[in-house]
Amino acid sequence: MASAVRFFELNTGAKIPSIGLGTWQSEPSLVGNAVATAIKIGYRHIDCAQVYGNEAEIGSVLKKVFEDGVVKREELFITSKLWCNDHDPEDVLKALDKTLLDLQLDYVDLYLIHWPVKMKKGSVGFKPENLLQPDIASTWKAMEVLYDSGKARAIGVSNFSSKKLGNLLEVARVPPAVNQVECHPSWRQTKLHEFCKAKGVHLSGYSPLGSPGTTWLKSEVLKHPILNMVAEKLGRTPAQVALRWGLQMGHSVLPKSVNEARIKENLDVYDWTIPDELFCQFEQIEQARLIRGAFFVHETLSPYKSVEELWDGEI
Ligand code: A2P
Repeated sequence: MASAVRFFELNTGAKIPSIGLGTWQSEPSLVGNAVATAIKIGYRHIDCAQVYGNEAEIGSVLKKVFEDGVVKREELFITSKLWCNDHDPEDVLKALDKTLLDLQLDYVDLYLIHWPVKMKKGSVGFKPENLLQPDIASTWKAMEVLYDSGKARAIGVSNFSSKKLGNLLEVARVPPAVNQVECHPSWRQTKLHEFCKAKGVHLSGYSPLGSPGTTWLKSEVLKHPILNMVAEKLGRTPAQVALRWGLQMGHSVLPKSVNEARIKENLDVYDWTIPDELFCQFEQIEQARLIRGAFFVHETLSPYKSVEELWDGEI
């Protein structure tokens, strides 16, 4: 049985549970059961986003777990994200209100700018002709208003390079609490993580297993021989070792699963450690970004002409 979750502290003073259930690509009809199962076995952090298209189903489950007394609202940490077509300051509050309505909550614990990418108001999909020049400073001002109102108890960003995060920190009145980015043994984010630590921004890792179920990615993260060697030596699964590695690196991890056994397996990472002599071997794992964001890049129509520009060379 997994033991109680541990926490990292945010620059707001709030505590973020170090494991959160990811819900990206959790199919409607399966996500509700996954969230209910996770909360019953001890998860206290659910990572959501409006663009995932499943917040209403998650909201119904949250209502039920509160009514049934499984947990109290204040025991849960709920994250959601502002989609790219809501970057105009006048849309930011409306977007959070829609998320709160869907999630059936009065506040989220963390609200993130999902990407440093702006799309035309009301546009759907990833068409290059919908891409616009982002104005992160003005979107952030609207995020700060949400923080002041208490509807978002912490605010942050996602998919920001060190440069973009640095630019934001220069203009922010309320500094971002979190940068949520792809992070796993095959994409360690060493430079970005050091920068985040120096600035007091917590790094949260999405796709901590390398998103093995994503059909358009060629993910080999869980198959890596070093991960498998460590897993075998410790009598754990490769997924557990990948998650435990993340916790020992000092970032929170957001594994997605809709399978009860795997949801349990992914929480069972607190009562053991990867010893130093095995932990240092992770440094030998070759590095490659999986979620490159190529859909936000276009030579003529996007403000980002290349993947390198989107990530400011951190690629
Ligand atoms: P499933 O939902 O069927 O469990 P990530 O969090 O890196 O995006 O990875 C999510 C993918 O990894 C999903 O396809 C999920 O499938 C699968 N997954 C989740 N937990 C495990 C695990 N413990 N072992 C192997 N695959 C897992």
